[in-house]
Amino acid sequence: MKVTVVGSGAVGATCADNIARREICHELVLLDIKEGLAEGKAQDMMQTATLLGFDTRITGSTSDYSKTKGSDVVIITSGIPRKPGMTREELIGTNAGIVKGVCENILTYSPDAIIVVISNPMDTMTHLALQSTGIPKNRIIGMGGILDSSRFKYQLSQRLNCSPADLNAIVVGGHGDTTMIPLIRLATWNSIPVTHFLDTETQKQVVADTMVGGATLTKLIGTSAWYAPGAAGAALAEAILRDEKKLFTCCVALDGEYGQKDICLGVPVIIGRNGWEKIVECDLNAEEKELFAKSADAVRSMNDVLKTL
Ligand SMILES: NC(=O)c1ccc[n+]([C@@H]2O[C@H](COP(=O)([O-])OP(=O)(O)OC[C@H]3O[C@@H](n4cnc5c(N)ncnc54)[C@H](O)[C@@H]3O)[C@@H](O)[C@H]2O)c1
Repeated sequence: MKVTVVGSGAVGATCADNIARREICHELVLLDIKEGLAEGKAQDMMQTATLLGFDTRITGSTSDYSKTKGSDVVIITSGIPRKPGMTREELIGTNAGIVKGVCENILTYSPDAIIVVISNPMDTMTHLALQSTGIPKNRIIGMGGILDSSRFKYQLSQRLNCSPADLNAIVVGGHGDTTMIPLIRLATWNSIPVTHFLDTETQKQVVADTMVGGATLTKLIGTSAWYAPGAAGAALAEAILRDEKKLFTCCVALDGEYGQKDICLGVPVIIGRNGWEKIVECDLNAEEKELFAKSADAVRSMNDVLKTL
């Protein structure tokens, strides 16, 4: 098994570090356009192999895609992150060109790869990857919902004073401060609805805090977060390569599911060796359906910006 991570910045390197430690693949390639960055980080990570006890072979490459040849999974994290006060959507102008170029290069050497898109604005970058490559839709997966769902569980665990591992909760819709939909009605604490324990005001606060989870960290750190995004990318790669059939919320191409077409949006999907293998439709109530439609409208207008670039 071989994985390539394109972009060796904060998210890419953290994702690679998680993949190496978990021995998800035998060969792991880090790539970046910044001279020496990927090679340096790859060496640094390899020097933890005996300390952490893993046997993943990590190499780095400055823009030489021949090193990525035969990758089973390619994770795209290249592009600029947001700064405090910025929305993910403001990154589109720069990141669209980067993601399109990276996809072309990747497929030259790994025509059968499953592509995981992390670069923001992720829903639109996933749509762009699908449109520009024309590869089967099940092989393009946007990573956002796994992270947002994890942040949702964190917020719930803080209010419930419980272990996040005991929680089941998902975020669907777009991966944006105003487009994501934390489904609190369906969230459970070991099968018991969390709504049983939290009053309406607290529920609203949990949802609001989840939606600005990324922006809150950007304000605190001064740039976009990387530990949870990197771990989420690695969890997705693991589910693919180990054919886990995990149910994750991922950004995938919809063809009538959840009432939407010609758009990539976050919905629950089964992840396995073929990429995303099945969309799971859950019964949204009228309010959630309306939020989902609004989220789709916002993402669609962001996708339209691609036509002007
Ligand atoms: N989907 C999510 O949940 C999620 C979460 C966090 C961050 N992000 C996004 O991930 C992206 C990366 O964030 P980061 O914090 O790692 O940024 P970063 O600046 O630390 O790293 C980005 C790296 O990409 C490299 N790069 C730029 N153009 C490239 C190209 N053409 N080819 C190869 N490498 C190139 C840069 O040299 C840099 O090292 C951003 O767009 C950010 O918004 C997404």
